[in-house]
Amino acid sequence: MADIVNQIKKLKEEKDVLILAHYYVDEEVQKIADCVGDSYYLSEKAVEATEKVILFCGVSFMGESAKILNPEKLVLMPDPTADCPMAHMATAEKIKAVREQYDDLAVVCYINSTAEIKRYSDVCVTSSNAMKIVKSLPNKNILFVPDENLGRYIASKLPEKNFIFNDGYCYVHKDIKKEDVLRAKEKWPQAEVLAHPECTMAVLEEADYIGSTSGIIKQAGESDGKEFIICTETGVFYELTKNNPDKVFHPAKEQQICSGMKQITLEKVLQTLESMDQSVEMDETARTQAQRPLTKMLELAQ
Ligand code: 13P
Ligand code: SF4
Repeated sequence: MADIVNQIKKLKEEKDVLILAHYYVDEEVQKIADCVGDSYYLSEKAVEATEKVILFCGVSFMGESAKILNPEKLVLMPDPTADCPMAHMATAEKIKAVREQYDDLAVVCYINSTAEIKRYSDVCVTSSNAMKIVKSLPNKNILFVPDENLGRYIASKLPEKNFIFNDGYCYVHKDIKKEDVLRAKEKWPQAEVLAHPECTMAVLEEADYIGSTSGIIKQAGESDGKEFIICTETGVFYELTKNNPDKVFHPAKEQQICSGMKQITLEKVLQTLESMDQSVEMDETARTQAQRPLTKMLELAQ
């Protein structure tokens, strides 16, 4: 293990590579990254990067977004087949059909989406900025794609808007049931429940705090509580336990695992640094069209 980590560090310096990693990848991959964070933080870091190359340890929409925002950089993925099923759960046809029904429509696209879906959207959001961005839009009618759960959560806080939902979902968060949370609360009655907004409304209603992965990590650090029930992917447990050795964290249920994120291994990171292939490539017209909503997100999230 030490050997592979040293080889990664050496090649990373030699080849001028910035390694970005999402909180859901395995702990040992998070440890070798230059920046670990939520989707919004990582897209900001991708834009600010001064290195020639970005190696993105995450699922494909993340590497794709980094490339859309940084066309001049070489963006590499340790495993290009690591994917987020939700990213594919909306279609350009649906977006076009809803646009025809409303004059005053904003198409708001969760960053967990393909470049093709982004092309047809007005603005992108992540779980940490969706509320702020949707609130700031002048449009009353909002088509939220692809995640229904995040859309419904935002809608519950913005009654002045008319939301049209799409039936996409994250299987990891949807699999956390209200009964799991109730059981966990019974077992650990003192624990605070921290939930990601990709969970269903039934789960969110049981939560003491709702936020992105970095929001959950911040809340756990700032809370006076000593015990927490975590309703998101278990990759966050590395940062949670590292930052709070005196606190205890329980998953709401077993197997809160994103298999796409877990495809990223140290061995694949090393192989990619050696070969420098597996780059994200995109048609330039498609890239420019997908860049517009991402750039708008970065402006509106300020
Ligand atoms: P955040 O890290 O932005 O909260 O996103 C969670 C997620 O599901 C990423 O795929
Ligand atoms: Fe997609 Fe869910 Fe995995 Fe996030 S946790 S990448 S939304 S499948």
